[in-house]
Parts: sequence; structure tokens; C-alpha cells
Amino acid sequence: MEGPQARRAPAPVRAMAGAGGPLPPVEAAPRAEAARRTVALRPGADLEGFRAAVRGLVAEGVPPERVAWTSDGAPDLLGAAAAPAATDAPVALPRAAADLVPMVVPHRDPERYGLLYALIWRIRAGERDLLEVASDPLVHRLDRMRKAVARDLHKMHAFLRFRRVPEAAGTERFVAWFEPEHHILEAAAPFFVDRFRSLVWTILTPEGSARWDGAALGFGPPGRREDVPAGDSFEAGWRDYYESTFNPARTNLRAMRAEMPRKYWHNMPETLAIPALIRQAGTRTAAMIEREPQMPVKRQPARAVAAMADQDPASLEELNAIIRRTEPLVPGATQAVLGEGPVGATIAFVGEQPGDQEDRQGRPFVGPAGQLLTRAMGEAGIDRAAAYLTNAVKHFKFEERGKRRIHQKPTAGEVSHYRWWLDRELDIVAPKLVVALGATAVLALTGKAVPIARARGPFRFERLDNRFQGFITVHPSYLLRLPDEAKQEAYAAFVDDLRRVEALGRELAG
Ligand code: URA
Repeated sequence: MEGPQARRAPAPVRAMAGAGGPLPPVEAAPRAEAARRTVALRPGADLEGFRAAVRGLVAEGVPPERVAWTSDGAPDLLGAAAAPAATDAPVALPRAAADLVPMVVPHRDPERYGLLYALIWRIRAGERDLLEVASDPLVHRLDRMRKAVARDLHKMHAFLRFRRVPEAAGTERFVAWFEPEHHILEAAAPFFVDRFRSLVWTILTPEGSARWDGAALGFGPPGRREDVPAGDSFEAGWRDYYESTFNPARTNLRAMRAEMPRKYWHNMPETLAIPALIRQAGTRTAAMIEREPQMPVKRQPARAVAAMADQDPASLEELNAIIRRTEPLVPGATQAVLGEGPVGATIAFVGEQPGDQEDRQGRPFVGPAGQLLTRAMGEAGIDRAAAYLTNAVKHFKFEERGKRRIHQKPTAGEVSHYRWWLDRELDIVAPKLVVALGATAVLALTGKAVPIARARGPFRFERLDNRFQGFITVHPSYLLRLPDEAKQEAYAAFVDDLRRVEALGRELAG
């Protein structure tokens, strides 16, 4: 909101989150020359407490030099000062200032709250574009604090590693230890919820812990590094991944240590490989130069992931745990959508990739195309619950248009990135008959682009050593996209295909 003497075009204004509409300008607030206030916030990053205090202080017109901020549980040294009155009256701020507050509150500097309040006071007194004045000592200091918190968040997101904790039969839990420089646990935790939504995990730090039980995020007391197991079988995978992506010709030790400081190494299994890799860097560079003509030109995430996943999982549970911990090749998906159905199912259906509904619910073929498939299976006499349903690609790829998430077809590179999982899945489920639904499934199963119209019907999947009888048909979403007059006939042909699949399955099951 505008102060009375503001002359320039106003910057966009936002109420501090947690506050409502704008307050009268500071000049209109009652003066409180003599009043001194103490604000005792909870230790760590007390964003809500700070916002509430600012609302009260601004409403009372208390200038920054008359406020004492404490956040370490220590009593107010002058004892007599009162806390600001509680009020819901909102404090309007330009967007840049409102965005700065949550990035500075987690900083470890005990003066952070006082500095922020000084900034807010000056902005409300008419210096609306203060944050654009980079040479102002207050702005400069707050900006450095913001950058330090952003760096710390980045490091936590990048360098935290979960370890599996053995639990009661059939369940698993993951625990990670991290020592942030600032009070960032609460700000960092939602990132891990997005990444590892389907796991149960706890992050321990010396100041507090975050726990996700698969449904809700909670914060609790500090932990100790000893509470986290020393290692698990998955770590070999991380080391292999790191070794396979390590480029000895680019070894710049100073840059490497700046990006991944040594203090984080003990949390990260892959860094165990670093000293040996550095020692060998000279020899490996020479060998690389010799090999140069055969080096792949492009980065090959599929190869790197295959190296990471080269662990020979013995069950769907083990395989799924690996898939769940894997980042989507294309960012955005809520969770990996795993195959569904019994091991030993006679028939396995392979689709393209999860859609919007599948991504939300974490189950394959539950959206419109899945419902059509289920209906056609029923009409063809195939029991969905007895079949195995999965996808070539395990994460939803989409483009956001307004509130809608529009499906994007995976590229051939993305299909080959996920092929390892599909192959392992089929190894473990060991169906007699594999049904490819549409072109992406055919590409995943054969490694080739095969026109569906020509190949429709029984097929041998040579890439999979002819281990399974194959059958190719259209994808159910193709039927949904057809004009109404063509739908009936195409659907009937699809059900016919599935009847042949059912008969073939019965025959193969013997
Ligand atoms: N389409 C697919 O290919 N798979 C699903 O799981 C859903 C829609």
C-alpha cells in the first residue's frame, strides 16, 4: 500500500503471508514513543511467530530500535518490556520483501529478526523500492543472508541420503542424517515429501527432526548421527552410479570441494569412491583420451541409471523400492507408478506411462483409459485382478496448462531409460503372455518402432530372448481420442483382440 508521500509507480504489494488486507500507513498508527517491546520467538526459524509479532508491532507503531528480539529461550535482560499486542491487522509489503522474509528467517544470525523488522519499518515509512538499492548496508546484509539460506537448502536437497531401516516384516522405513548450517529443516522438508511421497521416512538433524508417514509431515526433537544405520545394500548402487558418471578429465578438486564440501561426504555413500577416483584420475584421463573415438557424444542417463540399478533385485518389493527412490527423468511427477498384479500372472499388460489420475493415485490404469481397458478386459473374460498391469515409463510426463496437466508422449530416450525396470519386472512376474498396448509399449518391448496397424496380433519379442509370447494391440487412449462414429467399431475390435489374448493365455497356462 502507498505511503502518503510516495511519488514513484508503486511496486507490487502483498500482505505478509498469514496476514489479511492492508494496514493504514505507519504515520496513521498510534505513536508509542516510550513503549519498549520484547519479542520472544521459538528457537530455530519461527516464521509464524515473527509475522504475528510484526503485525502487533506495526499496529502499535513501535520502531525497530525499541524492539528486543530473542529466539534462544533466554529471558529478556531488561525484564520489564512487554510483548506486542496480538492483532490480526495485516501488514502489506511489496512482493520482493514478502518473499525475502521466509528466506532470511531460517538464517542462524541472531540479529535476523531485528534486521528484517528494520527493513519492513523503512519500507512502510515510504522507502518502497528499498530492496532495489543493493548498496544499502541493510539490503546488502539481508541479501547475503538470503543467499546463504538458499545455498544451504540446495545442499540439503542434493546431499541428503536416506538409509533403509529394517522394520517388521513387509514394511520399511528410511532415515537420513543431515547437519544444515542454518535452521532450514522445516523449509527443506516439503521437497522430500514431493520426492519420496510413497516412502515412510525421518530426517534427523542436531536441532530437530522431520517425519513423513506417507500421509502427514511432522516435526520433532533432534536426533543423533548414531541413530542412522551405517549403510545398506542400496549404497553400492549409488557408488556405481557416481563412478559411472565421474569424468576424470574434469577433476577440479577445489571446485568439487566447494560444491560438495567434505563435511557432507560421510552422509553420502558415493563419496566413498572419491579418494580412489581422484588418485586414479591421471591414469583414467590418459585411458579416456585413447578411447575418445568410441566415447558416446551425449550424456547417457540410461547407462548411468542402469549402473546404479545393477543390483539384481530378487522380488517386486526390492525392485519397487529402487524405482521409488529414483528421480523422474523428466521432473514434475508426484510419484513413481509401479506395476500392479500377482507374481506369476499368466498375462501382463504393458501401457505407455501413468496419466494424471495414475500419478495422483499411485496406481496404473485407474484414469479414463484404464477404466476403458478394465471394461474391455471384463467383456473379453479377462480378470483384471489376476493379470499384471504396468507401464513402459514409470513417471507421468506432462505440460501444465493453467490447472490442467496435459500428457506428453515420452521420447525414445526416455523409454530406454526405464527399460531396465520393465525387463526386471517381467523377469520377476514371469508371465506367459505379454500384451503391448500401443506404440510406446512396443518400442519398450522390442527396442524398435513398429507400426501397430501392421504388427497387431501375436508377436515374438526377440529382444526379450523370446521368453514370452507377445501380443500387440492399440492403446485404450487411442479409442478415447477417436471421433464418436469410429469409436464403436474400434472398441469392438479392441475387445476382439483381448478375446484372442484370453484364449492364448488359457492355452499357454496349459
Ligand atoms: N495410460 C497408460 O499407458 N498407462 C496408465 O497407467 C494409464 C494410462
